[in-house]
Amino acid sequence: MSETSEAPAEQRDAGEALLAVENLRKTFGGIVAVDDASFSVERGTITGLIGPNGAGKSTTFDCITGVYTPDAGTVTFDGEEITGRSPPAIADRGLVRTFQIAREFPEMTVLENVLLAPKDQLGESLWRSVAPIARREVVEQEEELVEQAWETLEFFEIDHLAREYAGTLSGGQRKLLELARALQTEPSMLLLDEPMAGVNPSLEKKLLERVHDLQERGYTFLIVEHDMDVIMNHCERVIVMHQGSVLAEGEPAAIKEDERVIEAYLGGEN
Ligand SMILES: Nc1ncnc2c1ncn2[C@@H]1O[C@H](COP(=O)(O)OP(=O)(O)O)[C@@H](O)[C@H]1O
Ligand SMILES: [Mg+2]
Repeated sequence: MSETSEAPAEQRDAGEALLAVENLRKTFGGIVAVDDASFSVERGTITGLIGPNGAGKSTTFDCITGVYTPDAGTVTFDGEEITGRSPPAIADRGLVRTFQIAREFPEMTVLENVLLAPKDQLGESLWRSVAPIARREVVEQEEELVEQAWETLEFFEIDHLAREYAGTLSGGQRKLLELARALQTEPSMLLLDEPMAGVNPSLEKKLLERVHDLQERGYTFLIVEHDMDVIMNHCERVIVMHQGSVLAEGEPAAIKEDERVIEAYLGGEN
C-alpha cells in the first residue's frame, strides 16, 4: 500500500470520538428503522455494531454515509457535522462503507473495479478537478491510480485475480474486492456491513488480518457482524442496537453478560 493511503499520524490518537451519531432517526412510511440512536466510535478502534435482524444497523450505516438523509439527529465525523451530505462528499472527508451485498461490477475485471472506485465513490469531482490541468499531469495521475490499485490488490492478496472478471470471484474474494475498492478512496474510517457473510474460514482469517493491519496504520473501523466470535475476539468496543435504538455499549466481555442484550437476542426478530 502506498504511503499516501496511510492515515495521518494525528489520527492515531486514541480516546477521542472520530464518529459521533446523536439522536438519529429514520423512518420508512410507518416503520421506524432508526429510533433516537446515539453512539460514538473512538479514533483508531475496531468497534462492533451488533443487534438482531431488523435492529436498524444497515439503515444507521446508510444515514451515516449519506445514502439516506435522516429524519432527525446529527452525524459528526472528525469534528465536522456531515448530516445529510452526499456519499461522495462524505467519502471525500474520509468516511466510506461497504455494503451488506457487495456492489462490484461483475462484467469488469477486478483491476477495473478497483480503478473505478474513486470515481464512483468521489463522484465527478475528481475528474472535474483533473480536467483543466495539462494532459501530462492527467496521465501521471492515472498512472499513480493504477499503481495504487495494484498495491491495494497485493495487500488483499487478490492481485493474481486482477484480470479476471469480478463476476467470477467467490463470495469471499468479492468481499476482499469490496474492501479494496473502499480503500482506494483513501479513507480514515471504514464502515463494514457484514464483511464476513458468506466468506470461508481461510479468507475470513485473511480479511480480519487485513483489518488489524489497517488498524495499526491508523484506520478506524465500525463493523456490523453476526458472528459473535468475530465481534468478541476482534472488537475493542461493541454497540448493541435493538428496535432502532442503542441498547448497550461497552467492552465485549461486558456486553456478552448483559441481560438486556441476551434478552434482545433471545427475543428473536422484533
Ligand atoms: N428501504 C426500506 N424501506 C422500508 N423499510 C426498510 C427499508 N430499509 C430497512 N427497512 C426496515 O427498517 C428496519 C431496520 O432494517 P435494517 O436497518 O436493514 O436492519 P439490520 O441491518 O439491523 O438488520 C427493518 O424493519 C427493515 O425492514
Ligand atoms: Mg443489515
